[in-house]
Amino acid sequence: MTPGIKPLVAGNWKMNGVLASLSELQLLNSGFSVELQSKIDMLVCVPASLLFPASDATKSSAVQIGAQDCHKNLSGAHTGDISVEMISDVGGSAVLVGHSERRTDHHETNAVVLEKAKTALAHGLQTVICIGETEAEKRVGTTLDVLKSQMAGSIPDAWEKGEMIVAYEPVWAIGSGLTPTAEDVRAAHKFMRDELVVRFGEQGAKTRLLYGGSVKPANAVELMSIKNVDGALVGGASLKAADFLGIAAAYETIA
Ligand code: 13P
Repeated sequence: MTPGIKPLVAGNWKMNGVLASLSELQLLNSGFSVELQSKIDMLVCVPASLLFPASDATKSSAVQIGAQDCHKNLSGAHTGDISVEMISDVGGSAVLVGHSERRTDHHETNAVVLEKAKTALAHGLQTVICIGETEAEKRVGTTLDVLKSQMAGSIPDAWEKGEMIVAYEPVWAIGSGLTPTAEDVRAAHKFMRDELVVRFGEQGAKTRLLYGGSVKPANAVELMSIKNVDGALVGGASLKAADFLGIAAAYETIA
């Protein structure tokens, strides 16, 4: 938590979900109570194929829909890619950039992520820039160095529209059931906050910092209570509304 920052509980369905999965969004619509809406924002980043139906299914609810990637260009000959305009055209209000699975599977560098982030922010999207160390980097004690260089390389110097959000996702914690200790999360998020304040001043003090990697209902209260953790980016446990709402419910108990 950070005083004055409204937390964001964000789901990332990754390459999961078909039209039948929209029933989970209906359950989110009804489970995201007015009281909880006053405490947190909720976002689900669905596969590109579901952007339109998911936006449609949540149009009268407070659940926001986002994409999992975008191209740096607004249009053109880029087979298989999706543009920020296409995302917002069908009701998406957010996009993830630089997820570790994109950095690994598609060899996305900080420079590539930076260009995507600039385009998404200029288009007014909530832009979640993902960073995090690998297991090997953690083992040799370079976590904060990795975060520093990923932040320096993938976060734009300035933006006038959109909202820049940073998600710390240790690569080794993703989908593994493993999480860093609360002290390690606290140290990483404090480091990220300090870096942002040095670079952006008040804007950096207000930037939402999400934690991601094996967040589930059972550990949400502990993780979300940590200073400078302003929400979660949830993979596996976002696929079932009951689990995702269970994570969101952590904010009913966190003061
Ligand atoms: P899990 O919650 O499945 O570990 O995934 C985290 C993640 O990569 C979210 O972007």
